[in-house]
Amino acid sequence: MKRHLLSAGDLTRDDAELILSTAAELRELADRPIKKLPALRGRTVVNLFFEDSTRTRISFEAAAKRLSADVINFAAKGSSLSKGESLKDTALTLEAMGADAVVVRHGASGAPHRLANSGWVRSSVVNAGDGTHEHPTQALLDAFTMSRHLGTGPKGSLDGRRIAIVGDVLHSRVARSNALLLHTLGAEVTLVAPPTLFPVGVESWPVEISYDLDAVIPKADAVMMLRVQRERMSGGFFPTAREYSRRYGLDGRRMATLQDHTIVMHPGPMVRGMEITADVADADRSVIVEQVTNGVAVRMAVLYLLLGGSEPAVGGEE
Ligand code: NCD
Repeated sequence: MKRHLLSAGDLTRDDAELILSTAAELRELADRPIKKLPALRGRTVVNLFFEDSTRTRISFEAAAKRLSADVINFAAKGSSLSKGESLKDTALTLEAMGADAVVVRHGASGAPHRLANSGWVRSSVVNAGDGTHEHPTQALLDAFTMSRHLGTGPKGSLDGRRIAIVGDVLHSRVARSNALLLHTLGAEVTLVAPPTLFPVGVESWPVEISYDLDAVIPKADAVMMLRVQRERMSGGFFPTAREYSRRYGLDGRRMATLQDHTIVMHPGPMVRGMEITADVADADRSVIVEQVTNGVAVRMAVLYLLLGGSEPAVGGEE
C-alpha cells in the first residue's frame, strides 16, 4: 500500500481487499464490551477538518482511539484557520507536533494531495473528503457493507454485483470514489441522475449512466442514494424539490420494485423527504446505520495499515 490514501483509484484490488479483510477482523471488536487495542499506542493522529462533518470526524476519532493512538482534533472554526492561516503554515504546525497521520477534509478538491505531495509533512495523509472530488474511506466502508450483505465466496467478493448510485453525482465525492473502488472490486456500477447533475467527463468513469431510476433499480443488488448538495449549488439544477423527489427520490412505491435481497444505502446526512422518504430510510433493507458502525472498523484498518502495522491488528490485546 502507498503511504497516503488520497484517491480510491490509487488502491489496487489487493490493497482494497487487504483493507476490507483487516476491517472485518477489527469489526468484531465493535461487539465486545472493551473496544480497544494497543496497536497504535504512542502514535498521533490529527483530524484536520476545514469543512463541516459529523460522522466522518467522529468516526476517525473513534477509530484512532480504539487503536490507542493520541488524537488531536483541529477544526477550522475556533482555530487560526479562520484567521486566514495558510494550509502550509497549518501543515508545519502539525509536523512540529509530531503527527504520524493527518486526516484532512477540505472544501477544495486536491487539498489533501497538496498536503501529501508538498514535502511539508512527513506524516501519512488520509483524504476524508476534498471538495467534489473524492472520499475514499466512505467508498471503502460502503464496499465493506455491501460485501457483508451481498458478497460471495470466502472473501465476500462483489464480482458482478450491480450497484445503482443515485442523485447528485455532480457534487458528490462519494459517487466518484465508489465508482472507482467498486469497479476495482469487480462490481457493475450504474449512476442515475438528471442530465444536469452528471459531471463533465463522466463518460470516462468505469460506469454505466442512466436518467431513468425506475428502469435501473429492479436489477440492482444495492441502491445508494446521494444527498442533494444544495450548499454546493449556485443555480437551478432541477425545477423544484418536489419534481426532483418524484423522478429521483426513493419512496415506498419504488422500494417495492426492488429484489428481496437488495439493500438501500446512504452516506448521510440524509434529507428525509428529498432523496429518500422516512419509511425507506427506516426499512429493514436499509443499512444506513450499519454503514456508520462499519465506518469505524474500516478507518481503523486504514490507519493501522498506513501507519505500518505489520503484526496482526487483532491479537496483542491487553
Ligand atoms: C458525505 C460527504 O461529506 O461527502 N457525507 C459523509 O461523509 N458521510 C456526503 C454528503 O455530505 O452528502
